[in-house]
Amino acid sequence: MKVTIFGSGYVGLVTGACFAEAGNQVVCVDIDAGKVARLQQGDIPIHEPGLDVLVKRNFDKGRLKFTTDAEEGVRHGLFQFIAVGTPPEEDGSADLSHVLAVAETIGRHANEYRIVVDKSTVPVGTADKVRERIDQTLGERGVRVEFDVVSNPEFLKEGAAINDFMKPDRVVVGTDNPRTAELLKTLYDPFTRNRDRMIVMDVRSAELTKYAANAMLATKISFMNEVANLAERMGADIEKVRVGIGSDPRIGYSFIYPGAGYGGSCFPKDVKALVHSAGEHGFDARLLKAVEAVNKQQKQVLFRKINDFFGGKLQGKTIAVWGLAFKPNTDDMREAPSRELIEALWQAGAKVRAYDPVAMAEAGRIYGKRDDLELVESSEAALDGADALAIVTEWQEFRSPDFELLQRTLASPVIFDGRNIYDPALVRSFGLTYYGIGRPELAS
Ligand SMILES: NC(=O)c1ccc[n+]([C@@H]2O[C@H](COP(=O)([O-])OP(=O)(O)OC[C@H]3O[C@@H](n4cnc5c(N)ncnc54)[C@H](O)[C@@H]3O)[C@@H](O)[C@H]2O)c1
Repeated sequence: MKVTIFGSGYVGLVTGACFAEAGNQVVCVDIDAGKVARLQQGDIPIHEPGLDVLVKRNFDKGRLKFTTDAEEGVRHGLFQFIAVGTPPEEDGSADLSHVLAVAETIGRHANEYRIVVDKSTVPVGTADKVRERIDQTLGERGVRVEFDVVSNPEFLKEGAAINDFMKPDRVVVGTDNPRTAELLKTLYDPFTRNRDRMIVMDVRSAELTKYAANAMLATKISFMNEVANLAERMGADIEKVRVGIGSDPRIGYSFIYPGAGYGGSCFPKDVKALVHSAGEHGFDARLLKAVEAVNKQQKQVLFRKINDFFGGKLQGKTIAVWGLAFKPNTDDMREAPSRELIEALWQAGAKVRAYDPVAMAEAGRIYGKRDDLELVESSEAALDGADALAIVTEWQEFRSPDFELLQRTLASPVIFDGRNIYDPALVRSFGLTYYGIGRPELAS
């Protein structure tokens, strides 16, 4: 099948590469000429495990093409996927300008039937706006072209995106046209071989499903962080509580890890956007507001612990930071808790020596060169001359460090474990002071 994807970011690129891998002819369109040029050279602008191999193979076979030529894209695909960004506006609402710009492009160049598929995360009612924009643009051209607008939200997780796309838990399709649903089913069949995973519903329900899924996951995290804050004050250990509640199948073990707060390009913006949409419908989404407020606070917890430990005297101190990406296996630092910590440390006059297995270039891009930030080549190098260590991302390579080295190297020596990846008793047995999230705070 012929597929066009607008937007070659985390979602568009993965979608394009996976559809091409299944044998489809895919054209990826992006307005970022630099990104397109890199992709044409086989240089993948993001870190996503397995994506480079997939892109290269399909590019070499001629099934995957990258272009800035929107007209070519519109002419190519029966399916026109919209996978552009929907960043938050100042008021928390989703910025639909990129989505609607693509709609306009499709209206400007379409000459035959097209299925326009919203894969970007968009508020309920966006499909109507996309339809209107295409209609309006076609009207300006004075032509009549049939088209459908479908909602097909994406549920992939950065860091496991290829696997999620190739073996989805579900493919949600919002359309009231059974013929369009059939065509999408054919397109997705290779990824849902062992059982049908397509859930077809009306467009608005599909749009809301995506927000509901992310809001639910964000709620789980904020809930656990709230209980962690209680545990800390009550002398209980959240890690024991986590195991205790997770054993109830109605609760389950997934996604109930306390930590330094959720980040990334999705949860923060999607919770905000849903709160905003609720307001537009005259509804005060109090639970969602609390989820966001708890998360905002949680992102400051590590800094507070560090600041308290040093008695508010961080001026001239150096803090080693392990982990910059908002979660492991990605280089994405959008809304990452590390940023909140680093910026608070700078504000307090401290210096940061940071290491992340893949997000160093991204950190350099965000912060540029500055005297109070050293981006170093290894986790050990981050410890040199540091007073304390903060762990912000739970990368596998941080899980079994040389605690003797840590004890010898850190001036204080203290670990602030923002992801509870260590056994406090073990860490303390090496003469290190340990602070986790929601764990009793004993000095060594
Ligand atoms: N990143 C994720 O894990 C994830 C998961 C599920 C859903 N989503 C949603 O998918 C959407 C895309 O997210 P992302 O993380 O891939 O974004 P991204 O910022 O990584 O990529 C968006 C791309 O769209 C391009 N673009 C912007 N306007 C364009 C236009 N008019 N024509 C062509 N290209 C254009 C940008 O240059 C950029 O390369 C968002 O709505 C997001 O909420 C993201």
